Amino acid sequence: TPLSHIRNFSIVAHIDHGKSTLADRLIQSTNTVADRDMKEQMLDSMDIERERGITIKAQTVRINYVADDGEEYVLNLIDTPGHVDFAYEVSRSMRAVEGSLLVVDSTQGVEAQTLANVYHALDADHEIVPVLNKIDLPAADCDRVAEQIEDVIGIDASDAIRVSAKTGIGIKETLEAIVTRLPAPTGTLDAPLKAMLVDSWYDSYLGVIVLVRIMDGQLKKGDRIRFMQNGTVHHVDRIGVFRPAMTEIATLGPGELGFLTASIKQVRDTRVGDTITHEKRGTDKALPGFKPAQPVVFCGLFPVDSAEFEDLRDAIEKLALNDASFSFEMETSAALGFGFRCGFLGLLHLEVIRDRIEREYDIDLITTAPSVIYDIHMKDGTVQQLHNPADMPDLTYVDHIQEPRIKATILVPDEFLGDVLKLCQDRRGIQENLTYAGSRAMVVYDLPLNEVVFDFYDRLKSVTKGYASFDYQMTGYRQDALVKMSILVNDEPVDALSTMVHRDRAETRGRAMVEKLKDLIPRHMFKIPIQAAIGGKVIARETLSAMRKDVTAKCYGGDASRKRKLLDKQKAGKKKMRQFGKVDIPQEAFISALKMD
Ligand code: GTP
Repeated sequence: TPLSHIRNFSIVAHIDHGKSTLADRLIQSTNTVADRDMKEQMLDSMDIERERGITIKAQTVRINYVADDGEEYVLNLIDTPGHVDFAYEVSRSMRAVEGSLLVVDSTQGVEAQTLANVYHALDADHEIVPVLNKIDLPAADCDRVAEQIEDVIGIDASDAIRVSAKTGIGIKETLEAIVTRLPAPTGTLDAPLKAMLVDSWYDSYLGVIVLVRIMDGQLKKGDRIRFMQNGTVHHVDRIGVFRPAMTEIATLGPGELGFLTASIKQVRDTRVGDTITHEKRGTDKALPGFKPAQPVVFCGLFPVDSAEFEDLRDAIEKLALNDASFSFEMETSAALGFGFRCGFLGLLHLEVIRDRIEREYDIDLITTAPSVIYDIHMKDGTVQQLHNPADMPDLTYVDHIQEPRIKATILVPDEFLGDVLKLCQDRRGIQENLTYAGSRAMVVYDLPLNEVVFDFYDRLKSVTKGYASFDYQMTGYRQDALVKMSILVNDEPVDALSTMVHRDRAETRGRAMVEKLKDLIPRHMFKIPIQAAIGGKVIARETLSAMRKDVTAKCYGGDASRKRKLLDKQKAGKKKMRQFGKVDIPQEAFISALKMD
């Protein structure tokens, strides 16, 4: 296809504003797939994604479209992940296309993720076509939302397309706008091959599938190619495009998007943003700006049943093959036994991996408190990176501690603003900006990442009844008065409950934790002290009193089946417990104890 007849684009939107529905509709209206093959939401492939309604891995589809000018165009849509954890992948994949459809729900307006994603698109110099979706709904207010797009994002929305992805209104106009308003790609056919690695994933039949955008040159089946990051050379088995089913073709040229397979065993070997060239007569200039996505949140994953450790290792190794940004190493905890210290791009990433281990591999897990990476500046001038509060070095050798900070952008209806400011303030936030767009406020806060990783997002949703949207980016490290707080149950430290906290918050946090644990730990035959301590100093203490009677006593001994049920329930509960010295702690205590409210 000549460059003038190619258009490459992505769709940027906040969650639920209709990205997948619109993509489906574009595919369907161009007969890219027969109607009977059209599954709802073609582009979201994994189960978890579908259940949670989020798109994690980028997918792509090639659409042939005969425009009003009578010419046939090739439209390549890449679907980018919509969540803040995957910001790096979003920003890279945006560089593979020239334009974006900016989809905004006309009953809702601009949200924090709309902003974050549109900034990535603007960074990549995209032409942007605003699309107001859901105009079939009575609450649609296109004029207001168009004005908001202009005010908040600062792009012209006077010719925004009014669409209902659900009923099909405006779909034809959208396709025409892609052809007439987005630029064609550029590139040189007879230059050395330069292709960008946009995404990759594992397929059990074909091995790793690599999605590429050809910048210059031509890629053919049988070529020997080199990944410039690690220098590995591969033989190309197949190339093709997605329609959206995989279809093999003979060559991929400049401006085109497609896939290759090359007997690559693990996704880890294929880094998003890498440059691919030919082994011989290749380019020596890689595409600029490559950096691998780095994990920022760490936690321990331990099997509830220690006999499942090897199964857990197996599950983690398999998942890691397919996810270059997930890191792990073995860890031993005095309390929890053998497990793994794992690194994630963010909380959602953590949750997705944990869910998959529990569901696909059927292993019950104990997850320890998520932690960020602290820089520990030692008195001898060296700096240690602390991934696990349990490894905190002796304070006499520590000069000071730095923690990562983020810039958080929150959009919220007026009436909840007070609660949001209070929440951010409680989490040691520093307000940087507060502006209004209609009846909605946009606040920007500088916050410590460690105050956000645990339950900030849940709290934000709950104080705003779900109306706030949130996005963040890492800004850098800053020194603060941080201390390690330990929890002792029956005088034994439970290393898995150690956390780093700010000195000023330690007492409140410690008190909340011991109170929670008191409710979560079942009574035993003896008294159990539960304490929070900094160094050797106890800052909060509760005592769980001893059990006095048989639990079944309250059933008045009458009903035997009820009694049995109760004992069975106790037994089932036991399975999910871990022993600490003489004390059984239920699994949910680890998570709940760390939630703050
Ligand atoms: P994520 O995949 O979670 O990022 O969401 P999304 O942006 O892809 O949104 P999706 O397409 O899943 O749409 C969200 C909801 O809005 C679904 O229930 C759709 O059926 C509905 N929806 C999408 N477009 C329209 C529309 O034009 N009109 C109406 N009434 N509903 C729509």
